[in-house]
Amino acid sequence: MTKQFETKTVHIRHPHIQEDVSKATPIYQTSVFAFPGLEEVEQYYAGERGYLYTRNGNPNQTELADAVATLEEAEKGVSAASGMGAIMAGLLAVLGPGDHILVSHEIYGGTYGLLHNELSRFGIEMTSINLNEEKTLDAFVTPKTKMLFFETITNPLLSVVDMPHWITQAKAHGLVTMIDNTFATPYLVRPITYGAELVVHSGTKYIGGHSDVTSGVLVGRQDLVARAKQIVETYGASLSPFEAWLTARGLKTLALRMEKQCDNAKEVAEFLRSHPKVKAVYYPTEQETAFFHHHKQGAMISFCLADEEKIYEFYRALSWIKLAPSLAGVETSVSHPVTTSHRAFTEEQRQATGITKGLVRLSVGIETARDIIADLEQGLGAKS
Ligand SMILES: Cc1ncc(COP(=O)(O)O)c(C=O)c1O
Repeated sequence: MTKQFETKTVHIRHPHIQEDVSKATPIYQTSVFAFPGLEEVEQYYAGERGYLYTRNGNPNQTELADAVATLEEAEKGVSAASGMGAIMAGLLAVLGPGDHILVSHEIYGGTYGLLHNELSRFGIEMTSINLNEEKTLDAFVTPKTKMLFFETITNPLLSVVDMPHWITQAKAHGLVTMIDNTFATPYLVRPITYGAELVVHSGTKYIGGHSDVTSGVLVGRQDLVARAKQIVETYGASLSPFEAWLTARGLKTLALRMEKQCDNAKEVAEFLRSHPKVKAVYYPTEQETAFFHHHKQGAMISFCLADEEKIYEFYRALSWIKLAPSLAGVETSVSHPVTTSHRAFTEEQRQATGITKGLVRLSVGIETARDIIADLEQGLGAKS
C-alpha cells in the first residue's frame, strides 16, 4: 500500500532485531508496546507475553530488577523511579492501616520522613530502636508489629549493626525484615542469605555508580515483590527505560568499583585517623564487618574536624573533590550532613547524635588513593 508523506513521516519503520542480535541491551524507550492482533493482547493478559505499557513493565526495568535480584540471591525484583519509590513499595507491600514497624534509630532521612509524615497518615505506626544498644526486640514488639527495617551501613555515621542477630530476632517474632543495602551493596553483603525477606537499594548510589541516574530496586520474596510491583505500577513509581538502562549499564562494573573504592577508603581512613586536624573518624571496623565478603569495610567515611569553625574553609580549599550531597559515584565527593540531609536537626539532636557542624561525609571513589589523600590534606590545611 503506498502511503502519503504525512503517514510515512509518522510511521518510521524501526528495524527488527531478531536476526541481528545487539550485544548491548537496546533501550526500549517506549511508553507502550504494539501488538500484531487482539489475540496477542489476550496472550499478554494470560501472562504469555511480557509487555503492554511501560508503567506496568518494560524490558529495561526487568533487566535491572532481575540483575539485582540475582546478585542479592533473591527470588524476584522490581525496579522503581528512585530508592524512595522502592522503599515505599516494600513497606506498603507488608504494612496496612493499624500496623506497626520497628526501625533502626539511624536511618536515611527520606525513609524516616516517609514513615513519620506520610505512612503515619494511613495509621501505620513506627518505633525507633537503637540496634547497637538493645539486645532483643521483646520490649518493642506489639500484636500489631509486622516489620523490622534497618540499613546495613547507616548514614552518615556508618555504623554496622549485627544483621544476622536482628534478622533472627525478627523471625522469632514473625516479623518481615526489610534491609536497605544501599551503602554495602551485594558485593559486600547479601541480607537475603541471612533470612531477610526484602532488600532495597537506591540505584542512584553504588548500583548505578556514576551519579548520572536516579533509580531504585526492591528484591526479595516472590509474593512480597509481586505485591510491591503492583504498588509501583498503581502509585506511578515506575522507572523510565533509559534510567533503567543506565543503572544496569553501571551495575556491570559494581565488583570492580567496590573493590577499588573500599581499598581506597581503608587507606584514606588511616590517613584521616592520624591527622591532627581531625578529631573523629567514622568508618566501620573489621569486627563489625566480620560477616561482609572480601574482608572489606565499605567505601564511605565520615570525619569531624577538630576545629569545627574551619568547615567552610575545608570545602573551599579542596581542589578537585566535589561538594555534592549524594554518594557512591566513581569520583570521590564530600557532603555536609548538617546543612543537607540532616538540616532539620535541632542543635540538641546534633549534639546527641554527633552529626555536628564539623562533620564531613566522604564518598571515596576509584581514583588513586594518594591523590584523594593529597586533596584532603589540602582541605585540612586550609588557612582562614
Ligand atoms: C541509604 C539510602 N536509602 C535510600 C535513599 C533514597 O534513594 P533515592 O534518592 O534514590 O530515592 C538514599 C538516598 O540518599 C540513601 O542514602
